[in-house]
Amino acid sequence: MFRIVLSTALAVVVAGGAIAAESKRDTVKSGAWSMTLPLGLQGDSAYIPDGNPMNEGKVELGKLLYFDKRLSKDQTISCATCHHPFHGYAEPKTVSAGVGGALGGRNSPTVINRLFSADQFWDGRAADLEEQAHGPLTNPIEMAMPSHDAVVAVVKGIKGYPPLFAKAFGDPKVDMPRIAKAIAAYERTVVSGNSAYDRYQAGDKSALSASAVRGMELFNGKANCAACHASFNFTDENYRNIGVGMDKPDPDLGRYAVTKENADKGAFKTPTLRNIVHTAPYMHDGSEATLMDVVEFYDKGGIKNPQLSADMRPLKLSYQEKLDLIEFMHALTGEVTNATPPESFPQ
Ligand code: HEC
Ligand code: HEC
Repeated sequence: MFRIVLSTALAVVVAGGAIAAESKRDTVKSGAWSMTLPLGLQGDSAYIPDGNPMNEGKVELGKLLYFDKRLSKDQTISCATCHHPFHGYAEPKTVSAGVGGALGGRNSPTVINRLFSADQFWDGRAADLEEQAHGPLTNPIEMAMPSHDAVVAVVKGIKGYPPLFAKAFGDPKVDMPRIAKAIAAYERTVVSGNSAYDRYQAGDKSALSASAVRGMELFNGKANCAACHASFNFTDENYRNIGVGMDKPDPDLGRYAVTKENADKGAFKTPTLRNIVHTAPYMHDGSEATLMDVVEFYDKGGIKNPQLSADMRPLKLSYQEKLDLIEFMHALTGEVTNATPPESFPQ
């Protein structure tokens, strides 16, 4: 009898918590379109360019294009090949392989929470997702299409696509800017929040283990991670040199290629850490296999080089502190929205 009463009381408490959490969720609006964000994500940080307002038809079209392998030279590769929902919208390879197995020089970053960034790529060379989406389709080591015209011809040639462009854009014209806009609109709906960390922040103190709480304190304190992995998306949206690859003879100079500023040599975008457990291996070159390897890298203070960030220093973490940091990163795994691949494609 007592048990039943107790569980009812608990149910009420849990429901009360759910309602409180529900009221803390932000909404993103674009014209008549809106999306309620998972707990912990901040609507006022969303970036949707004026030239590409959101609508339902565009998101659906973009999702089909994102997963459609017919947009590659030999019809074997889609965006999802290297940014797959099963792998946290990244891929479990050191560096990416495109059509014919051609290897790139960089590790595939996650497509999750791109809604909160303007610049894209490890070096930020694309000003937005629309510009970014133009790249892979014709990149010889990615989808390897001969030209954007060829991509447009493929999409136009599939009878089911033009009507979806009409729904998205008002008329059935298929062109490269529209293909890129639709893909970008889809990507902006792929967000991750409502992790154990977010529920803890919203007041559910049971959401994090004692180890994760210690890890969070280290993250914000002694280990100095929050100096760069800042705010709700765990990135300062800035380019930092932590030394990855800088001990190689001919290092990838990252942001320097974009700005030609000496200080940007070896600087790469601070990536989000949301759903980080799903996106191994880590770093722009995939050089760290596990989160323990990453923590060991930081414990040593990164790799010395002339442009190393002043926020990097040896941390002298104990083994337990390393485990606590990893436990905290596990707690950043949340629900990813709009992540179910399409069941069928336009014919
Ligand atoms: C062969 C693997 C491969 C394919 C196919 C591919 N990508 Fe990528 N993607 C990568 C790699 C590698 C990078 C990082 C490149 C860099 O930063 O220089 C990247 C970067 C990105 C980024 C930047 C993310 C960030 O945090 O800056 C986005 C967004 C993205 N890709 C979306 C797409 C879309 C959309 C498609 C399909 C049109 C696509 N990718 C196809 C491998 C791939
Ligand atoms: C000085 C800024 C800075 C500090 C401090 C920092 N990070 Fe990073 N972090 C970065 C940058 C920049 C990258 C990407 C570097 C690269 O690939 O060259 C990165 C990459 C990572 C990655 C891999 C992400 C991926 O998608 O591959 C993880 C995990 C990570 N950091 C966790 C941490 C933890 C844990 C701490 C604290 C111990 C920390 N970072 C401290 C800037 C920083």
